[in-house]
Amino acid sequence: MTFDVLSLFPDTFSGFLDSSIIARAIRSETVQVRLTDFRSFSKDKHHKVDDYPYGGFPGMVIQAQPVYDAISSLLEEGSAPVIYFTPQGRKLNQQVLQHYSKYQRVILLCGHYKEIDQRVRDLCVSDELSLGDYVLSGGELAAMAFIDGVSRLLPGVLGDIESANSDSFSTPLLGFPCYTRPEVFMGLSVPDVLRNGNHKAITQWALDEATALTKARRPDLLSD
Ligand code: ADE
Repeated sequence: MTFDVLSLFPDTFSGFLDSSIIARAIRSETVQVRLTDFRSFSKDKHHKVDDYPYGGFPGMVIQAQPVYDAISSLLEEGSAPVIYFTPQGRKLNQQVLQHYSKYQRVILLCGHYKEIDQRVRDLCVSDELSLGDYVLSGGELAAMAFIDGVSRLLPGVLGDIESANSDSFSTPLLGFPCYTRPEVFMGLSVPDVLRNGNHKAITQWALDEATALTKARRPDLLSD
């Protein structure tokens, strides 16, 4: 799967793309991430990409032209959904990630400053996604979350696909507590049930723990 990222700060992706599961997915060519600095599409002689907003509001707005041209040039290679990350978008969740994991290619647009000119959103953007009800300085962190979350759903990216299937949100429940050695740490013991080899009891324990945690923290997930 190819992620085409449009950002004014492509360097922010380097540590993320060079580490862990994403780096491995890129090496094995299951995932390709192409970074485009849309400033290079600016027709301004100083490569300016932002300007004051109409209406006299505070802040700056990214101009339509460089973004429009950058997206158009990527779409010349073939059609793909264009996703813009903004706090105004619908909330990113596991279903959204699953939906996009079926595509061969997606275009991810990261804003900065205040917003991107509405006309480029009207003309080019097919979906708008938000990480949550808070404002970040730009869409880059959201794009990384999206790339990470989608990539781990692609066949062959995780060593053990079961570990993805038992993650929080693949089922409607949050995850359950996990333990590894030692058996006792700072006076706290691993629950007995996990050490007795009774798989039926262990599965029931995990389900009970996940249900209790979901009820306490995210009752909304149970009422859907
Ligand atoms: N850009 C700025 N804030 C954001 C958020 N909460 N989610 C996605 N993109 C953003």
